[in-house]
Amino acid sequence: MMWLRKSLVRIGKDRRVINLEFDKSIIKNFQYSDTPDFGSVQVPIVLKSLHSEGKPKGNITIGPNGDYKISSFNSTLHYGQSIFEGLKAYKMENGKFKIFRLKDAARRFRRSAQIMGMSALDEDFFIDCVKSYVESCSELELTSKEHSLYLRPLLYANDSIIKVRASSEYQFVIMGSIVGSYFSGGKVGAKVYCNRQFVRAFPHGTGEAKTAANYAISLPALKHATSLGFEQVLYLDALKKENVEELGGMNFFMIKNGTLVTPKLSGTILHGITRDTILELAKHLDIPTEVRDINYKEIIEPSENQSIFACGTAATIVPIIELGFQESLEGQLKRIEYPVDPLAIKLREHLVDCHYNKSPLSDKWLS
Ligand SMILES: Cc1ncc(COP(=O)(O)O)c(C=O)c1O
Repeated sequence: MMWLRKSLVRIGKDRRVINLEFDKSIIKNFQYSDTPDFGSVQVPIVLKSLHSEGKPKGNITIGPNGDYKISSFNSTLHYGQSIFEGLKAYKMENGKFKIFRLKDAARRFRRSAQIMGMSALDEDFFIDCVKSYVESCSELELTSKEHSLYLRPLLYANDSIIKVRASSEYQFVIMGSIVGSYFSGGKVGAKVYCNRQFVRAFPHGTGEAKTAANYAISLPALKHATSLGFEQVLYLDALKKENVEELGGMNFFMIKNGTLVTPKLSGTILHGITRDTILELAKHLDIPTEVRDINYKEIIEPSENQSIFACGTAATIVPIIELGFQESLEGQLKRIEYPVDPLAIKLREHLVDCHYNKSPLSDKWLS
């Protein structure tokens, strides 16, 4: 049985209707693997809204997640005008979902669109759409406390023309995936590879945007790292190849003599929401912090009281237990082992408390 309800979204001062066009039972009866591979579980509904000049054009719908047509002339396929967000909704003890740092995701989505020359969505519209989508998912049964609802808002160019220009029309989509641990097997630490020859982002480029191109460019490096037994790539700045920037999909922290150190937002690093949360948590917990350049030599020749970790929405906090380093593809591979720092684990516990409304900081971040 198909049923039709309405939900409201704000666009500035205007209100628009979202048509809810799906049978509630597809959510209620949805089943998935107990150990989901990250990103593989497809929640069976999606929100769709076509946009022109930043405003919705036609119906906004939440309906079944089916295949839909895309023209071979679609300009995203050719020129890559595509941005996305990644945020999570967590099930509280009362069974209701709450979304973590939704406003920050809305702001970053807008910023990504501007960087990519796309017409940006109204932040209130983004927020209301994500809330309506999560509300539509409210009867999803999560089979483990470790699972959450990963939300993936996406905006891509919709013009059908093979001519290099900013699209006049954009498709906004929100999809969801039930996720558990980011790394398979839920292990404690990650092995990360750094090569001075690899570049992810350069000044005045797209590094700060959550855009497809940044991930595409990281894939050959990731493939190489994987072939050497590593799981992620750590990038240095593109010009001097001296300062640590971030991983392909996570921000970077070092703990040195009890101080949390993370690279500055240099213009080429994604403004990670988890990075920001950790810095605020540190303030709250009286842990000293430094936001500064980290020369790669500082991490390949670590001092005694030093550890490193990566962070992001998908993986929370992941201690880096082995760092592989090469000057170039021909250079000798150095392997540096790192301990799992109890401070990183403590921070992760506090971060999870924030997600589940168990921290004094939760209130301002959950909606
Ligand atoms: C390149 C990059 N850096 C950092 C992060 C972490 O950002 P956040 O904490 O907002 O998830 C991500 C997340 O996907 C990312 O893709």
